[in-house]
Order: sequence, then C-alpha cells, then structure tokens
Amino acid sequence: MTGKGLAEVVAAQTALSDIDGKLGILSYCGYDIHDLARNATFEEVVYLLHHQRLPNRDELDDLCEQLATDRGISGFLRDLMSTLAEQTSPMSMLRTSISAASAYDPDGWDQSPEANYRKAIRLIARIPTLIASYQRLRTGQEVIEPNEKLPHAANFLNMLTGEEPDQDAARALDVTLVLYADHTMNASTFTARVIASTLSDIHSAITGAIAALKGPLHGGANEEAWKLIEDIGDVDRVEPHIKELLAAKKRIMGFGHRVYKTEDPRATHLRRLSYELGQRTGQPQWHEIAERIEKVVMDEKGLYPNVDFYAATVYHSLGVPTDLMTPIFALARMAGWTAHVREQYADNRLIRPESEYIGPRDQKYVPVDERS
Ligand code: CMC
Repeated sequence: MTGKGLAEVVAAQTALSDIDGKLGILSYCGYDIHDLARNATFEEVVYLLHHQRLPNRDELDDLCEQLATDRGISGFLRDLMSTLAEQTSPMSMLRTSISAASAYDPDGWDQSPEANYRKAIRLIARIPTLIASYQRLRTGQEVIEPNEKLPHAANFLNMLTGEEPDQDAARALDVTLVLYADHTMNASTFTARVIASTLSDIHSAITGAIAALKGPLHGGANEEAWKLIEDIGDVDRVEPHIKELLAAKKRIMGFGHRVYKTEDPRATHLRRLSYELGQRTGQPQWHEIAERIEKVVMDEKGLYPNVDFYAATVYHSLGVPTDLMTPIFALARMAGWTAHVREQYADNRLIRPESEYIGPRDQKYVPVDERS
C-alpha cells in the first residue's frame, strides 16, 4: 500500500512544471516561478506551457490575437448563462458551461492534436468571458463584450467591472494568473489527466478538473481563507480566534501543503501584492489581519501559507466578489490543465491504479428472505 491520498506517488511524467517541496522551488518548463512572476505575462506563460518554450515577439502577438478572437461566447452559452446566473454557484456554472461549450466548439469531435490545440486556446480565451458574463447577469447588469485591444487580465477586469483597470491593478491580476497557471500533479490536473487517459475529449477532462478544483481542500481554499479573514475582522481578534479553531481541530484554510515543506514560492509574491494593494486601496487592515494569522498559525502549528491565502486578500483588493475567487483560479489553471491534457494525449497510457482490498472475504450468498 502506497501513501494514503497517493502521497509521494509519481502518477505521470511531465515537462510542464516541477516542484522541490523542501527548497520551495517551483518552475514551469525550467523557468523559476520568481523569474516568471517578476517578468512574464500570463499570455507568455500560456505559450510556454503549450510549446515548452517562451515565444518570440511574432509568436506572442499571434497568440494574443488568437486569444482576443476566441473570447466571444456562442448564443447558446449566452442563453445558458442567464439560467445559470439565477440557479447555480459560480463554480457549478463553470463546470456546466465548459461542458456545454463542447456542443458548439467549431472543431466538434475532432480529436487531432491540431484541433485539441485550437480547443485549448478557445477554452483559455473564453473562461474569463463566462465568469464575467455570469457576474454581470446575476447582479442585473449589462454584459460587457470582450475588448480585443486589452490583454487577458485587463480584459477580464474590464468585463467584470465595466471599467478599464489601471496598469497596477491589471498587472497584479496578471501576476496571480502567472502564479496559478500550473502546479504539477495537483488534484484537478490529475483528474484532467485521468479523464484524458481514457481518450475522452478535452472538454470532458476540463469539466472534471473544474469539479475537482471546486472543493475547499483544493481551489476552494482561497474563498474560505477570505471568509476567515473577513470574519475575524480585527487584528486583535486573530490570536484567540485561530487558537479556538485549532483547539476544535479545524483546518485553517490557505495553510499547509502536500508537497511544500517550506514557504510556497507563490505565497511570497502574493504576500507582497496583498500589502501593496492594501496600501493602494486604503484598506491595509486586511493584509494586517492576514499577516497576524500567518504568524499565529506558524507559532501554533508550524504551517506555512499556501498560494490560496494571500490570493484571497489580493482578489478582495481588486474588487473580486468572494465566490469568484476560485473561478479565477480556474481561469488561470486552464492554461496548465489544457497543456497537461495535450501532454497526456501525446504519450498516452490509460491511468488505472490499483486498490488494496480491506473488506471481508469468502462470503456466501444467502437468499433475501433467509437473511437476518
Ligand atoms: N490547518 C490545520 N491543520 C492542518 C492544516 C491546516 N490548514 N493542514 C494540515 N493540517 C494538519 C492536519 O490536521 C494533520 O494533523 P494531524 O496529523 O494532527 O491529524 C496534518 O496537518 C497533516 O494533514 P493532512 O491532511 O494529512 O496533510 P495533506 O498533505 O493531506 O494536506 C492540505 C494538504 C492542503 C489538504 C492541507 O494542508 C489542508 O487541508 N489545508 C487547508 C486547505 C487548503 O489551504 N488547501 C489549498 C492547498 S494549496 C492550493 C491548491 O492546490 O489548491
């Protein structure tokens, strides 16, 4: 029997991302995440993950143009969105609408590598439009069309709020997308690869990934982290509140990680952004509360914050409603999921692990009326 929860099991080979959990190193295709967070745009990271190299200027321009062209959603999805905006939570909306998007994909059921690349780019391009349209509809506002002149992150904020963001806000979101874009064999990526390994289609694999991301132990943690920070509401209340939660054996969302045994390198950037945005918005208290929580959790449990903790205060400062924080994680991770699905198809073997049976043996069938 290997580790419960497949701990330390190598489930696939990948050339996309790598983690050294002891040293706190994350890299995409050999590029350190610190280098990418400081310098790269999300679009460059999309190209990197899908081609395993950074684009030259022309290649990047072509990708940006393609993403801008593909942002619009079909009339069918638009109609569906109105119903979903009334009936479902944002992550359920995403799961359903990505599944539904397969019906109108121009490449239909074509499973060729070329078609799958085009589908991947469409999925990356459209997910911001789905999230923003949903938010506008559920708040009774007019849906804002994608602006083809704006980059991915700025366009999303524009569609969400109806206002073109300034450079600092757009770059802050862009950095979070770079940081969230891929992360080795996390639960949602593993789910996507399992589905792809049956040779099911890319929309099915991504639908499964979204379902896995939704849970609070995975992507749902950023929303839970924000609820905790907001609920505490005052730096002086942090210590008793966290101690009380820990005494009750509750998990502090946004802390701990299966792989990192030291600081999650993504948290380093998000902590800085959280501070800067708090100053900018004139609401430094959320960052102060978050930092105090970090200290108490470290003192009490020796746990480091993961990517989801400071992402919560960053997204709040950017005006993102709490229940859209996990959808934005999905928006970013779409880059990694689609690249992993294509990587799985390129060298596929059905993923089919074994289980260890722990139930009774040698049972004999007894007719139903003779059972006690
Ligand atoms: N708060 C309190 N205790 C914790 C936490 C936490 N956040 N994380 C781990 N522990 C404790 C846990 O209770 C257990 O203690 P004990 O041995 O006394 O029962 C011990 O640490 C080991 O926990 P585990 O669940 O076996 O560890 P894991 O490697 O399976 O868990 C984790 C990883 C991320 C699920 C866990 O740390 C957790 O639940 N964190 C909170 C949820 C969260 O922030 N998730 C986002 C993960 S990173 C981004 C992503 O991939 O989505």
